[in-house]
Amino acid sequence: MTNARIVEVFHDTDGFLRAAIQCPPESVPSPGAYVMAVHPQITREPLATPLFLSGYAQSLKGFVAAPPIPESWQPGDWLSLGSTLGRGFLSSQSVSRLALVSLGSHCARLLPLAADALASGGAVSIFTDAPLPRLSPSIEARPIIDLPEAFAWADHIVLDSSLGELQSLNIETRESIPAHSEVLLHSPLPCAGLADCGICAVPLKLNKWAYACTDGPVFSYGELNLL
Ligand code: FES
Repeated sequence: MTNARIVEVFHDTDGFLRAAIQCPPESVPSPGAYVMAVHPQITREPLATPLFLSGYAQSLKGFVAAPPIPESWQPGDWLSLGSTLGRGFLSSQSVSRLALVSLGSHCARLLPLAADALASGGAVSIFTDAPLPRLSPSIEARPIIDLPEAFAWADHIVLDSSLGELQSLNIETRESIPAHSEVLLHSPLPCAGLADCGICAVPLKLNKWAYACTDGPVFSYGELNLL
């Protein structure tokens, strides 16, 4: 475990809480991967909290963790961080038109990909019905109803969604999502693979199963069984 310090806890314009966390570079999860955090002073939190990268803060050695953040966390508190875990996103730096799609309540976990794509000269659109955080003016935001336009425009699509949210898309939309699109699957990760709890089990095609905590949480869209 590595010691880390909460430097700031703040709400973005989407209304969700973030935490700026100071820690060594090896404890910063890559986009889509995660790190488990334990707050040693708050014993009423029985489980570790999975933290995903949402961004970097200026002059912060560490990272900004995406929601959800426990309401009890305060600036100045210490955390113990484990090793970074899970399969994150493939690099988006070679993508020239990136569509980010959040079917959930926020798009914070997708934002590091936007920053990387813009830095390498790409264009980025976000499709979501969720409230928006502060975004670069270079990012176009569209509602989910416009999603079919992403299939014609983007050369890579990345989604943040639960299995149920994907299943709730109409059949035509589901069949239009390219198989190589990446999905950051929203799933509870109570044991992060340590106890084999199975709560994060994900159905794959050909009657196979995977664990989101260790085999994901990023999957290729084409390998998921949405039936
Ligand atoms: S979270 Fe327990 S096996 Fe994945």
